[in-house]
Amino acid sequence: MLAYAAASYAALNYAFLSALSAPYPAKDPASYVNTLIGTLGGGHVFAGPSTPFGSIKPGLDSDVGNNQAGFVSDAGAAIFGISALHDDGTGGRPSLGMSSLLPQYCQLDTHEEDSGCKWTRNARRTHLAGPQSFSSAPGEFHASLESLIEVSFAATDHAAVYQFDYSKTLERGSWVVDQRKAERERRANNMEPVLMFDYMTDLSNSGGGTPNSLRIETVDLPSTQGGKAQAITRIRSSATFSPSFGVGNFQVYACLDVPLVRSSGVYQSTVSTPGATELTDIYDEAGVILTLDRDALAAAPYAGVLPVRMGISWVSTDSACAFAFDEIPAFPSTRSLTAVAAQTRTKWNRLLSDTLSVSHDGVSDDDLTLFYSSLYRSFLSPNNVTADNPRFSTTKPSFDSLYCIWDSARTIHPLWTLLAPKAQADVLQAIVEIQRHEGWLPDCRMSTSKGYTQGGSNAEMMLSDSYVKGILGDDVQFWQDALQAMLKDAQVEPASWGLVGRGGIAARAKLGYVPRGEWGSPSATGATPGRTASRTIEYAYNDFSIALVSAGLKRRDLYDTYTRLSNDTFNLWNTSIVSDGFSGFLQAREEDGTWAYQDPRRCSPALEPMGCFLDRGEGHDFYEASSWQYSLFAPHDMATVVSLMGGHERYIERYNHMWASGYADIGDEPGFLAAYSANFARGGYRHTVDTVIGLVRAQFNTSTAGLPGNDDVGAMGSLVVWTYLGFFPVAGTGVYLLGTPLLSAYAVTNDITGKTFRLKTKGFDAARRNKYIVSATLDGKPYTKSWLCHTVFAQGATLELTLGDTPSPTFATADGDLPPSLSTGGYAYDSNPPGC
Ligand SMILES: *[C@@H]1O[C@H](CO)[C@@H](O)[C@H](O)[C@H]1NC(C)=O
Ligand SMILES: *[C@@H]1O[C@H](CO)[C@@H](O)[C@H](O)[C@H]1NC(C)=O
Ligand SMILES: *[C@@H]1O[C@H](CO)[C@@H](O)[C@H](O)[C@H]1NC(C)=O
Ligand SMILES: *[C@@H]1O[C@H](CO)[C@@H](O)[C@H](O)[C@H]1NC(C)=O
Repeated sequence: MLAYAAASYAALNYAFLSALSAPYPAKDPASYVNTLIGTLGGGHVFAGPSTPFGSIKPGLDSDVGNNQAGFVSDAGAAIFGISALHDDGTGGRPSLGMSSLLPQYCQLDTHEEDSGCKWTRNARRTHLAGPQSFSSAPGEFHASLESLIEVSFAATDHAAVYQFDYSKTLERGSWVVDQRKAERERRANNMEPVLMFDYMTDLSNSGGGTPNSLRIETVDLPSTQGGKAQAITRIRSSATFSPSFGVGNFQVYACLDVPLVRSSGVYQSTVSTPGATELTDIYDEAGVILTLDRDALAAAPYAGVLPVRMGISWVSTDSACAFAFDEIPAFPSTRSLTAVAAQTRTKWNRLLSDTLSVSHDGVSDDDLTLFYSSLYRSFLSPNNVTADNPRFSTTKPSFDSLYCIWDSARTIHPLWTLLAPKAQADVLQAIVEIQRHEGWLPDCRMSTSKGYTQGGSNAEMMLSDSYVKGILGDDVQFWQDALQAMLKDAQVEPASWGLVGRGGIAARAKLGYVPRGEWGSPSATGATPGRTASRTIEYAYNDFSIALVSAGLKRRDLYDTYTRLSNDTFNLWNTSIVSDGFSGFLQAREEDGTWAYQDPRRCSPALEPMGCFLDRGEGHDFYEASSWQYSLFAPHDMATVVSLMGGHERYIERYNHMWASGYADIGDEPGFLAAYSANFARGGYRHTVDTVIGLVRAQFNTSTAGLPGNDDVGAMGSLVVWTYLGFFPVAGTGVYLLGTPLLSAYAVTNDITGKTFRLKTKGFDAARRNKYIVSATLDGKPYTKSWLCHTVFAQGATLELTLGDTPSPTFATADGDLPPSLSTGGYAYDSNPPGC
């Protein structure tokens, strides 16, 4: 499927891609991206075209379960149409899916939707022509429908161009041959090429609210070739929807340009009104039916292929039209789709190779496919809505689909910080700007609306991670503001802590933990009670992020306070809880200090895996992971965890038992760091390698069902990227835990400092028998630590690893090789570099 698209690009010149400093020039890394990985099963991956961080994400919408991102790679599933907006990999309800187009070849001789054209959402459903009748590559998507109409589309940042190829249906003969009955034949002769536009529905049927409006007009497009202007049909629409994992509502504005329209009309529910040009504040399914000029469509230069352009804005139809006009100026040229697809692919190729240069030596094509596809998805979201922000007016960058920071702060944003620091700087400004205008840092946000908080207030984790890595390092004012925003999360309880900030602040201040019951989880908008153990653990770690930024800004008082508060995690440590012979687990507590018992295995793949989501409410103390796994989450002070668990050996036994027994989950974000957590114990590195490589090999692959959980705006993808690179970020800090790279060599150039980190291996074998680092040198000097500090990327360094098939007794086995911990003197106020 990919071969088709890759081949059509062979003629392009990629010379600009081989940046001079890149030691391993990549010709067309996008050719390794399989956009269909994770589009079946629970991955919820978005398969259509998008620019990096693109605001518009057009795609087919399948009428089948797990269609959160629209298209599901299930050739048997019905298709509603091709809508303009989607999210990637999210849980919650199916997200977005509005401004849907569907080409049809049908008979439009009645005003009722009966035997001819169909327009309402369920009636119009169609299918793919067959199991192989779709293909996808970065920047474009193609599909053949059972009607024999072929659809192709490509996207810029805010606009999409579509091509509907009616040529097979226009050859009436072939159509009639397919029809057995004379009645059908009669009708076939009256069939016409038609395009439906539905502006009121979305994937989870959240539409139907007001305000909404639609207008059909005729406009003269200036000619792109210097000839005379061409009259086309323009549809402006706006409609109201509600977010898929949040509250309130939002408007989507579309501007659709269609040439070759012979007649138009609107529909409301099952009734059409030919000639009508407006709809306002209606409550039905509604949209437009365009009948195309069959002869003009069949003639040159169109030859049966209708080009259509759509701009989408969150602010106004004028903006939507301006985006379409500015970003796809060549419309309605029949070549605009090819040009747009090539331009978007170029953007991807730059992003996939500008700062990261990967040697393909010894790496299979399948590995490269998994790696680059995962890297690609790490940059699909959040979406850049700069200058298109409906919530407040700002000159700063705006980003949306932060869905959710709970998922993305752990691995996606650290990856942006490493590979796309300028984009990360934009996101940081965007979240602090949200705080300035709306009062609170976002925790989860989609379709410009507030989403539900899951655990902590994890914008803190994202901010400290970027802070210690030097993002916006010169902008002292920015970081002063960011610190104030973080402090507000920690100190002031919002009326709606289920949507922003934290809940149970007063109770925690008094007790040192968030207690079960009303005091810890006050009734509030969007607030689901419970999760008090995991919320305590996350708030404590979020406090540590505040401490790190405070240290950098020379606020000793705050550093002291917030490192102390970060120790609250251990107030939930109950030494007498035993599970499978291991004792000492984090557990929730009541207001009076007594303990609430929850089986430490609960909320894991082994026990009630589905029982601990947000919508299950009270009844679970931990969110989406077990106490077994959360008991390993104190990244700022793992030395204390190791000691509470009975020392290094016992800790490692426990870690291995947890993974072997299914008490932890690599298919959900908190499981990522848990998989690398053996590195916090002496001699643990080899166990991390066994676990991580084992899990990634078994549960991540290049098939359409190749993900063990929701991709969560690319979080699963970013885990794969880190695993291939051979190290993993302890998000919030400057520390990376070492695994063993699954690439033989690569270089990362820091976009801020211009310095390059080079990784080289000796003994790399394609079969991965040599899966352990047996010795290492950093800039020529022996290196035995189980971790790296971000300085190697900021200042540049060369790490040379010698790999072998047997773990070494001298690599990462001494006390001095362990990552920093507060209780052993790490992360000190004046530590330099910060965050390590
Ligand atoms: C976001 O969009 C703005 C406006 O189009 C642009 O200037 C900025 O570079 C974009 N940011 C990223 C990270 O692409
Ligand atoms: C943090 O908690 C641990 C475990 O209860 C305890 O041993 C340690 O003294 C505490 N540290 C501080 C700084 O309070
Ligand atoms: C742990 O919890 C149990 C109740 O489940 C309680 O009886 C016990 O006192 C607690 N242990 C400690 C050390 O707090
Ligand atoms: C591919 O990944 C999926 C999801 O984790 C898994 O169920 C499946 O077994 C894997 N397939 C192979 C061949 O490893």
